[in-house]
Amino acid sequence: MISAIKPAPAAVTVRVPAKVNLQLAVGPVGADGYHSLVTVFHAVSLFDEVTVEPAARTTITVTGEDAAAVPTSRSNLAWQAASALAKATGQRSAAVRIELRKRIPVAAGLAGGSADAAATLVACNELWQTGLSSRDLAELAAGLGSDVPFALMGGTAVGRGRGEQLTPALAAGTYHWALAFGHDGLSTAQVYATCDRLRAARSAAGDRPREPELSHPLMTALRSGDPAQVGPLLTNDLQPAALSLQPALRRALAAGREFGALGAIVSGSGPTCAFLAHDAGRARELAVALTGSGVCRAVARASGPVPGAVVVRDRDRDRQPS
Ligand code: C5P
Repeated sequence: MISAIKPAPAAVTVRVPAKVNLQLAVGPVGADGYHSLVTVFHAVSLFDEVTVEPAARTTITVTGEDAAAVPTSRSNLAWQAASALAKATGQRSAAVRIELRKRIPVAAGLAGGSADAAATLVACNELWQTGLSSRDLAELAAGLGSDVPFALMGGTAVGRGRGEQLTPALAAGTYHWALAFGHDGLSTAQVYATCDRLRAARSAAGDRPREPELSHPLMTALRSGDPAQVGPLLTNDLQPAALSLQPALRRALAAGREFGALGAIVSGSGPTCAFLAHDAGRARELAVALTGSGVCRAVARASGPVPGAVVVRDRDRDRQPS
């Protein structure tokens, strides 16, 4: 038998989802400046697309949502992802043109930057045919940022450590969301620092926050597949900090509840608010009502769980005419 040698593609496009956190329990800050977490990640159908192709030097171009706010220099996590993979695999001609087509808003608590980094890892891995396993990629991803491994994995998963140690969660059914985007972004580091400050102000001197614990009622509700059970169990320890930095988010959360959301929560470090609906139709109604209420910049509908970063297009360099 002659085994087919797959030609190296000339360009690879990867689609990658945003995430919301169904639970985000934040523990004490460690010596490395990171907080110990227990979180339940949930990938939703709001996608960025990343295309990579070989180039004389590495560049990043950005189109779509918040394009002007996305750095096109080495500081972009996507650039760092390509560099990290090139270094780990000894890739010689590692310069790539990276094109980000964004629908995930920037600095929104939806892990858009992490998603682009995960997509770039998968795309360059395919472009360079490195043969790295998904476990190797996950290790590289963890070095880039706490949310990057989950963007590779997708679905619904429990994250521990900084959020990078993942276990897939048993979750049934599909969940329908309205996502309300804020006018301004929030810096993740600033939200964590504000969380520490608020806790210090509330607690007696010397009290350390407790180690975070997984919500077993939430895990049971997720196994039931019933959004009415899941909605009231959504929790986010960063929410008070996000609300203190952007008090207007209170109005958005209250409006969503008033319009019938089963659960209303700030996503991750915010400022996006995620509203869980009974079904796709109710999510649409909720999105229309939120849009009309003027409490946010824009609203999107999404459902989850969806898979993590996947190759959607491969342009073959050496494809033979048939
Ligand atoms: O890992 P990532 O670069 O996404 O984290 C951004 C910032 O969020 C960190 O620099 C840190 O300030 C904060 N963070 C934290 N604890 C975590 C994850 C993030 O304090 N577990």
